[in-house]
Amino acid sequence: MDRIVSEEETIEDNFEQNIRPQTLDEYIGQSEVKENLNIFIKAAKLREEPLDHVLLYGPPGLGKTTLAFIIANELGSNIKTASGPSIEKSGDLAAILSNLEPGDVLFIDEIHRIPRFVEEILYSAMEDFTLDIVIGTENSSRNIKIDLPPFTLVGATTRAGDLTSPLRDRFGIINKLNYYTEDELKKIALRTSKVLNCKIDDDAALELARRSRGTPRICNRLFKRVRDFAMVMGSGNINLEITKHALDKLKVDELGLDETDYHLLKSIIEKFNGGPVGIEAIASSIGEEQTTIEDVYEPYLLQTGLLKRTTRGRMVTEKAYKHLGIPYKEDNKKD
Ligand SMILES: Nc1ncnc2c1ncn2[C@@H]1O[C@H](COP(=O)(O)OP(=O)(O)OP(=O)(O)O)[C@@H](O)[C@H]1O
Ligand SMILES: [Mg+2]
Repeated sequence: MDRIVSEEETIEDNFEQNIRPQTLDEYIGQSEVKENLNIFIKAAKLREEPLDHVLLYGPPGLGKTTLAFIIANELGSNIKTASGPSIEKSGDLAAILSNLEPGDVLFIDEIHRIPRFVEEILYSAMEDFTLDIVIGTENSSRNIKIDLPPFTLVGATTRAGDLTSPLRDRFGIINKLNYYTEDELKKIALRTSKVLNCKIDDDAALELARRSRGTPRICNRLFKRVRDFAMVMGSGNINLEITKHALDKLKVDELGLDETDYHLLKSIIEKFNGGPVGIEAIASSIGEEQTTIEDVYEPYLLQTGLLKRTTRGRMVTEKAYKHLGIPYKEDNKKD
């Protein structure tokens, strides 16, 4: 399934690497996170110590990977990257750790996906910069301790709740990234316009921002598609009219909803009278996995208040009925 408003990363998203901001100053929004990191980074540099380990969490496409690279850049350190799903055995993690140089930033994406028995190696590595491993076979095994250089682990996850508490507790700096405001996304669109050398009017940038589901990745993706329309149908500059036309053609509505969102909301309204209805019932009625609904379809609908979670299940809100142009019955307020 290819959704233009998907938060998930596609290969094309990273085609233009320079869209990614390189410094904290260039990084738009998340002001609290930025201010704090700025202090912690400066203090670590003054002390000539590695920065404390950093955990970044929040929905896909909000800038966790970008921020990890910025942290390394601001520290003046090299960054080494790994990802949870590719770390299957203790040896995988031991190899990564023993490759570190003093002051390195180790970025582990999707850190919640490291298997539990492998994760334990991280505890002493993070705490005392030592690598505690068991070598040999079952009969003749022995523990060895290897000193590691001081380093900073930056972990990223979309599912902070899936992290074990021993791991979470070893991060000195924990930051949640939030959805971006329209104004922030507008700034991101204007920045992208400069990077891609493609002019966009102010009102067009705001329109793009409105339809980007609070997510920079979607904003940049929509920007590139609207640019195609502007080049073929207009002068190459993006104005409001072309933006609206393009986004309508791409079937992204004023709130950034696409057909999948409509399908989900309408199914709950038509088949379950708007809810409350359990997630299992929704999943089977639209033929999707429960986790896909929870991780991919639902978050933005909950965030915008079109859907709400109650003790008895999901409910479509009055705002959603209005948005879909479906009459709202007062008895829908039953929960
Ligand atoms: N604060 C920001 N300012 C400007 N651009 C941003 C910002 N945050 C993210 N972006 C843009 O959005 C894109 C997606 O960000 P990024 O890849 O860092 O997200 P992510 O949180 O790591 O997503 P995932 O959970 O899928 O790994 C980046 O390529 C970058 O261009
Ligand atoms: Mg990422």
